Amino acid sequence: MAYVKGLVESKTLTSVPSKYVFRGIDAKEGISLEAETIPTIDFSMLTSGTPDQRSKVIQDIGYACREWGFFMVINHGVPETLREAMIRGGESFFNLPEEEKREYEGKKLFDPIRFGTSFNVSLDKTLFWRDYLKIHVHPSFAAPHKPHGFSKSVQEYCKRTREVANELLKGISKSLGLEESYINKRMDMESGSQLLVVNLYPPCPQPDVVMGLPPHSDHGLLTILMQNELGGLQVNHNGKWVPINPLPNSFLVNTGDHMEILTNGKYKSIIHRAMVNDKATRISIATAHGPPLDSIVSPAPELVMNSENQIPAFRGIKYRDYMELQQSIELNGKSCLDH
Ligand code: SIN
Ligand code: FE2
Repeated sequence: MAYVKGLVESKTLTSVPSKYVFRGIDAKEGISLEAETIPTIDFSMLTSGTPDQRSKVIQDIGYACREWGFFMVINHGVPETLREAMIRGGESFFNLPEEEKREYEGKKLFDPIRFGTSFNVSLDKTLFWRDYLKIHVHPSFAAPHKPHGFSKSVQEYCKRTREVANELLKGISKSLGLEESYINKRMDMESGSQLLVVNLYPPCPQPDVVMGLPPHSDHGLLTILMQNELGGLQVNHNGKWVPINPLPNSFLVNTGDHMEILTNGKYKSIIHRAMVNDKATRISIATAHGPPLDSIVSPAPELVMNSENQIPAFRGIKYRDYMELQQSIELNGKSCLDH
C-alpha cells in the first residue's frame, strides 16, 4: 500500500498522481461567502456555572445541535500540554520507519490498532490525501508501543475526552427535555466504545483537485476533534460549505449518525469534509464516542412520542453492524442513514 506521506517525501511532486484527482468536483465551489461562525459552548458553565448559567448553556447546546450539528467547545479543562503531546506523538508515529508502522497495516475494522491511508482503499475509486492511525481505546485500551510515551498520552487524552463527552451528553439530554443522565444511561456510556483517529494530511502541490476526506457524516453519538494550527475542515450548513477556523485550545464537537437515530432525527448528523493545503502537514485527532459495539440503538421512545407523527424514523441496528456498513459503502457525501 502506498501512503501519502511516503509519496510526498519520495520525490519533488509538482502534480498529483491521477488516482488522487477528483474529477467533477471543484473544491472552491459551494463555499459559503457569508461570515458565519459556528456556535461556541463554554464547557465550564456546564460543569460549574450557576443554575442560570447552566440553563443558558444548555439552551445554547440545543440551538447548536438543531441548527448546526457542530459547535466549538472552550474552557473544557483538558490541559494544553496533553493536547500538544497528542499532536507531537501522532506526528512522531507517522515519522516512524515505514516497516514499524506496517506492523499495524491492513488490519480489519475492529482490530485494536489500524494504520492506513484514504478511507477504504479496496473500495475508494479515487484515493484521499490522508494517512491515518485508528485505535479502539475503550472499553478495552490499546495503543502502539512506539513512539516512546505516546501510549501514556493516548490513555490520558482518551480518558479526559470521554469525560468531556459524557458531560456534553448530559447537557444534550437536558436540551431535549430529558433527565440529565438519560443518554449516558440508555447508551451505557460507561462501557461505550471510543475510537481515536489520528489523521495526517501532508502538503499537496495541487490542493484544489484532491480531498483529504470527502463529504461524510460520523457514525457515533459525538465526535470530539482537535487539530494543529492548520484549518481544513468544512461543515455543510444550509447547503453551503463553511470553513472552520478553530479557536486556540478549543475542541470541535459534532453530533453523529447515532445521535440522529437516538433523537429520532431531532438532532441531525451533519456532513463535513477535510480539505488540504500546499504549505504544511495538517494533523487532526478525532475521538468518536458511541454506545457499546454490540448494543442496538433505536429512537428514544420519549422523543418519538414528542415528535409530530409519533413514528420511529429509524430501525434499530447494532452499532458494530452500522460501522461495518459505513466501511462497506463508498464515502460520497451521503450519510450512511440514507442508504
Ligand atoms: C473527520 O471528519 O473525521 C476529520 C476531519 C478533519 O480532519 O478535520
Ligand atoms: Fe468526520
